[in-house]
Amino acid sequence: MSVPMDAPLTVLGIESSCDETAAAVVRLDSAGPRVLSDVVLGQAAQHAPYKGVVPEIAARAHVEGVDAVIGAAMRDAGLGYADLDAVAATAGPGLIGGVMVGLLAGKAIALAHDKPLLAVNHLEAHALSPRLAEGGAQFPYLLLLASGGHCQFIAVLGVGDYRRLGSTIDDALGEAFDKVAKLLDLGFPGGPLVEQAAKSGDPKRFALPRPLAGRDGCDFSFAGLKTACAREIERLGAPSAQDRSDLCASFQAAVLDILEDRTERAMRLFDPLWGARGRLVAAGGVAANQAIRGLLENLAERNGYDFVAPPMRWCTDNAAMVALAGAERLRLGMVDGLDAPARPRWPLDEAAARLRPSHRPGRKGAKA
Ligand SMILES: Nc1ncnc2c1ncn2[C@@H]1O[C@H](COP(=O)(O)OP(=O)(O)OP(=O)(O)O)[C@@H](O)[C@H]1O
Ligand SMILES: [Mg+2]
Repeated sequence: MSVPMDAPLTVLGIESSCDETAAAVVRLDSAGPRVLSDVVLGQAAQHAPYKGVVPEIAARAHVEGVDAVIGAAMRDAGLGYADLDAVAATAGPGLIGGVMVGLLAGKAIALAHDKPLLAVNHLEAHALSPRLAEGGAQFPYLLLLASGGHCQFIAVLGVGDYRRLGSTIDDALGEAFDKVAKLLDLGFPGGPLVEQAAKSGDPKRFALPRPLAGRDGCDFSFAGLKTACAREIERLGAPSAQDRSDLCASFQAAVLDILEDRTERAMRLFDPLWGARGRLVAAGGVAANQAIRGLLENLAERNGYDFVAPPMRWCTDNAAMVALAGAERLRLGMVDGLDAPARPRWPLDEAAARLRPSHRPGRKGAKA
């Protein structure tokens, strides 16, 4: 049963798939989504000594934080549970211990207050997150989803209708950023630190590879680039601050070249099927990178596309995108039972997963 298009829907979203415990309330009506509250409790300090996310520490921190985070989101929104139309929680893909914590909390609230449950795919939440941006992103659009666990081009045709055009055949882009930061001892999480260091570096100093650039299709590969960085660091021995900045700048320059080549090829696949004047949309943590946003904006303009990306705080993990995905699914009557499973792996486009078993769809892998 679907809900009338213009009926306002108020949904609590819960996110706990990696190292952020988050809750948010979103109201969706005919004017679009409005974020009524948005609370994120990060765990970076707990994982920093290990220079990566430790699943057991993450799961425990979610258990300790989830009730307070949900309480804060409800308070900030000025609502009680009775005011909600539904509860949405990330059900995967992700670190299974953490996913179970948020999903169980969502199920408990749904059961206790007799509300429908939406078991949301975290990748779908990222994919729809640009619709939280000013003006929103209208379907269909070409999505570059670049995060800690994924790097994919997806044709987003509507809620629940996703076609994967290309994917990384090895590492995710965020994983590569994190690995370079770890090798250079920059700190954790690595992406923003590499971006910062690159600003004062020479992007031409190190000749790094651009894997798959120039090849057909729009798959990615970052393992070779990561290894090339590791070799340069080995050669340097004890890198100086300038060496570090130069390597970050050279790494980011290689990433920009790869993204330029791959994105133009993805547009050539997208155009004939879903319209010549398209929308290019970026989501996932790596979409917070200003140099990458700038490149994509230029590319879009050059190719007759509009460019949309969510505000930075909705690029990395958050619950506003989970609440929005839940509200969009609720409107279409796509609700889930209280027996919905927590899924460590969950590709957005199941057909593509079957077609291309060598790829790692829906995987939240071991972090750098
Ligand atoms: N400014 C930045 N430049 C490059 N990378 C960044 C930047 N900010 C964040 N990242 C990267 O984004 C990733 C985190 O994004 P996100 O929270 O979406 O990923 P995730 O939830 O861990 O993975 P997934 O969504 O695939 O399951 C990290 O790898 C981080 O280094
Ligand atoms: Mg994410």
